[in-house]
Amino acid sequence: MQRRPRRNRKSESVRNLVEETSLSVKDLIFPLFLVEGTRQKIEVKSMPGIFRFSQDLLLKEIEECMKLGITAFDVFPAYPESLKDSIASESYNPETFYLKTLKEIKKQFPEVCLMSDVAMDPYSSDGHDGLVKNGKILNDETLEILAKMSLAQADAGVDILGPSDMMDGRVGYIRELLDENGFVDTSIMSYTAKYASAFYGPFRDALDSAPKFGDKKTYQMNPANSKEALIEADLDFDEGADFLMVKPALSYLDIIKLLSDNFPLPIAAYNVSGEYSMVKAAAAQGWLDSERAMLEILLSIKRSGAKIILTYFAKEFARLQ
Ligand code: PBG
Repeated sequence: MQRRPRRNRKSESVRNLVEETSLSVKDLIFPLFLVEGTRQKIEVKSMPGIFRFSQDLLLKEIEECMKLGITAFDVFPAYPESLKDSIASESYNPETFYLKTLKEIKKQFPEVCLMSDVAMDPYSSDGHDGLVKNGKILNDETLEILAKMSLAQADAGVDILGPSDMMDGRVGYIRELLDENGFVDTSIMSYTAKYASAFYGPFRDALDSAPKFGDKKTYQMNPANSKEALIEADLDFDEGADFLMVKPALSYLDIIKLLSDNFPLPIAAYNVSGEYSMVKAAAAQGWLDSERAMLEILLSIKRSGAKIILTYFAKEFARLQ
């Protein structure tokens, strides 16, 4: 035999030398769920180990995570039905609890990288990411609402805006308005290739944000398509996005690779709620080892070309370091 590939696997120290991909807690963004009130810490039923926190306990959670080395957080608000309406007006109400909490996080922890979500669904009585009229999701009318939301979040001190709505033209629209209003340093991580996926189920439980009718297939991408991801990425690149995101991650590793091979921007991947819950559910049955599965999953996402991973495993991973 001329070649014996096993020689490079013969000991841990040799394996370490030839290891191509490594994970760091610095690569991770930890998504957190916020509810109104005080002293609230409620586990999300379909996401064991993940909680909805009120501001006071969310700040404590962030402090704890920072001690473990996590430096980036993406906060998602869960709004009661009573505050939702068809135009998501609560999303840009300066007195709303989400914006106040974002501000407080940056005040207490100015060094964290704080990301927020730009889409109508948590505030929309229709449960859609865009404005609904006669059963249709309107694109251009939605942009105005997203822009107001973006300005309000930028004003609250957010470092990275995450438009997750999939409306056409929103990155450029938001970028222009941010710049006009002096927020030239506020970054945009575009949900570039966001697929209409079954794996968002537990997240919609966490936020009570499931669509009230129909599905999201007229704006989120068809899981059958990859070329479309290149069109979306071209547009986001031209419109000034600072990062391109693929979502979900696991069923879309080919898309992560495609964007990372074709675009010089940092690629992020969202290891979504359903991907987390699958591992937790199987582990609870004793069917697989949650820790090893987590490490393999995160590694595969990074190996496929994502520099940044948004993941509910962030704290668990950080604890191992
Ligand atoms: C909302 C949004 C969703 C997620 C992030 N932002 C859900 C959706 O599009 O229905 C999903 C995250 C997850 O499943 O972990 N625009």
